[in-house]
Amino acid sequence: MRTTELAGNQVPVIGQGTWHMGEQQSARRREVAALQQGIELGLQLIDTAEMYAEGGAEEVVGEAIQGRREQVFLVSKVYPHNASLRGVPAACERSLRRLGTDHLDLYLLHWRGEYPLADTVEAFERLREQGKIRRWGVSNFDVDDLQELQAPACATNQVLYNPEARGIEFDLLPWQQQQGMPLMAYCPIGQAGRLLRNPALLAVAEKHAASAAQVALAWALRQPGVIVIPKAVDPLHLRQNAEAAALRLDDADLAQLDAAYPPPTRKRALEMV
Ligand SMILES: NC(=O)c1ccc[n+]([C@@H]2O[C@H](COP(=O)([O-])OP(=O)(O)OC[C@H]3O[C@@H](n4cnc5c(N)ncnc54)[C@H](OP(=O)(O)O)[C@@H]3O)[C@@H](O)[C@H]2O)c1
Repeated sequence: MRTTELAGNQVPVIGQGTWHMGEQQSARRREVAALQQGIELGLQLIDTAEMYAEGGAEEVVGEAIQGRREQVFLVSKVYPHNASLRGVPAACERSLRRLGTDHLDLYLLHWRGEYPLADTVEAFERLREQGKIRRWGVSNFDVDDLQELQAPACATNQVLYNPEARGIEFDLLPWQQQQGMPLMAYCPIGQAGRLLRNPALLAVAEKHAASAAQVALAWALRQPGVIVIPKAVDPLHLRQNAEAAALRLDDADLAQLDAAYPPPTRKRALEMV
C-alpha cells in the first residue's frame, strides 16, 4: 500500500469510511468483518464520526479494532453543535468510550457551525495536551475558512472530491498543497451512484482491466497530498479498493476523464453532502 504523511504519521493513501455503518443491528457482523478485512488489506486508516448512526458507527469501529488498535490510524469528528469549549471534551469522551480506546489519532470539526473557531481550537489543543487526541483538523472548510482559522497545527481538511465534484482543484486543493496540508477526499467513488456508470470512466476501466470505482480512486490519487476514504462492506469492493493504489492513469486516460468531467475554470462554492 502506498503511504503519505498525515499528522506526522505515514498513513495508507486509501482508508476506510464508515458512514451508514451501525444503522442496522442485522448488518453489524458484516460491517465489523469488513473493517477487519480492510485492515488486513492495508486500509488501516479508519474515518468515522459521532454523527454516523448517532454513535453507532463508532461502536462498530470499536468492535472491529479491539485487539488491533495499534495497527489503525483512527479519525473521528465532532458535531458543530458540540464544538464549544465544554462540548468538545465531553463529545470526545463519548467517542473514545464507543471506540474502546484512550486516544484518537485525529479529531476533526465535522463542518463549521455556530461556535467561534478559536474556542474549538482551544478545546482541541487541551485534548492534545491530555493525550486524548494526537492531532486535530477540520472538514468541509473552503479557502476563506482555512485562512480565517490561521492554524498551522490544523493537520487536514476533509472535503468532497471525485470527478463529479472537482471544484476544489481551482483553489482549495492547490492552496492546501502549497501549505503542505494533506486533503482527505470523501465520497471518492460518488457513493456508487451515476459516476460508476459514466462511459468515460468505464472505458478507462476496461483499458486497465479495472473497475470504474478503482479508476475513480486512482484519479483522486493522481496527485500528491491526497488520501481517499471509500466506504465498503462488500468483500469484493474492499479488495478492489485496496488494489486501486497500484493503478496509474496515463495522460490519455486523464484527458478522457477531463472531457467527461471538465476541470473548473473559475471559483465554485465548496460542494458538500
Ligand atoms: N466529512 C464529511 O462531511 C463526510 C461526508 C461524507 C462522507 N464522509 C466520509 O467519507 C466516507 C466515504 O464517503 P461515502 O461513504 O459517502 O461514499 P463512497 O465511499 O463514495 O461510496 C460508498 C458506496 O460505494 C460502494 N463501494 C465501495 N467500494 C466499491 C467498489 N470498489 N465498487 C463499487 N462500489 C463500491 C459501497 O458499497 P458497499 O458498502 O456495499 O461495499 C457504498 O455503497 C464516508 O463513509 C465517511 O467516512 C465524510
